[in-house]
Amino acid sequence: MSEDGIFPAVQRTYGSDDLSLAASFAGGYINFGDWSTLGRTGPPDRAARVRSQQELYRRVLREFPDPTHSRVAEVGCGRGLGCALALAELGFAAVTGVDIHPQQVARARAANAALLTSRPDRLDYVTGSADRLPFADGRLDGLYSVEAAQHFRELAGFAREAARVLRPGGRLVVTTFFSSGPAAAEPLREVLASFASGLDVAHPIDGFSAELSRAGFAEVRVRSIGEAVWPGFDRYLAGGAVPPGHWSRNFVTAWRDGLLDYYVVSADLPA
Ligand SMILES: C[S@@+](CC[C@H](N)C(=O)[O-])C[C@H]1O[C@@H](n2cnc3c(N)ncnc32)[C@H](O)[C@@H]1O
Repeated sequence: MSEDGIFPAVQRTYGSDDLSLAASFAGGYINFGDWSTLGRTGPPDRAARVRSQQELYRRVLREFPDPTHSRVAEVGCGRGLGCALALAELGFAAVTGVDIHPQQVARARAANAALLTSRPDRLDYVTGSADRLPFADGRLDGLYSVEAAQHFRELAGFAREAARVLRPGGRLVVTTFFSSGPAAAEPLREVLASFASGLDVAHPIDGFSAELSRAGFAEVRVRSIGEAVWPGFDRYLAGGAVPPGHWSRNFVTAWRDGLLDYYVVSADLPA
């Protein structure tokens, strides 16, 4: 762990390396995308790549039944574009983006400066960690996270914090990739550099849902959305975004081999 408590690979990737500029992403978002509403003819262009990432946010945000009366926060907000979408497009009452990396928070504030000025009471970006969220008990109606939980060192602390900051009846929605089980950890390190470096942690999906139940969530729902994510993302990579043989192409292989999958996990606290 570095001096500021950030795991070194996370510190580097979202600090000096600024992953949002990598060729496999586009438009300031940093997720693999939901391609289910995009056409399948020909390699997707940059505009489609941006839209895929916005679509993943829309899929998550639509899980909240009453946006206009919901005060929500995003854990691992990156450049904060998903928070801006939640506010401007879906009309959430208030949105706070939380990120462990102070440089990401600074980028989020810069990228969304106009919205921060026009809606100062409804949008905010703050530094904080998934296992130490900067909110008082019961403060939020909803909490969500998009492609960030694979970086959390452990998920028990996140589950406990989510249960603490949500009000009774509050909802948590998490989307990202999880491993199929403990036996997948070693093969994932062999085929994917992000697991080998420790940037990504092979959290088994069953372990996460068990942690949510232990933390007090009822109604834990787990849905695989791999079919909507991996083939489209790989088509984009294959269209020239990365050189042939680049390790990122192995995500689709790891999915087909049953080592990992992409999920939407949602859970409610008892009312
Ligand atoms: C892959 S990016 C996703 C960003 C954004 N959600 C998106 O989809 O564009 C993951 C983000 O999670 C943040 N992060 C990593 N570990 C974290 C932690 N323990 N607590 C809060 N944020 C974390 C990183 O700094 C990074 O900005």
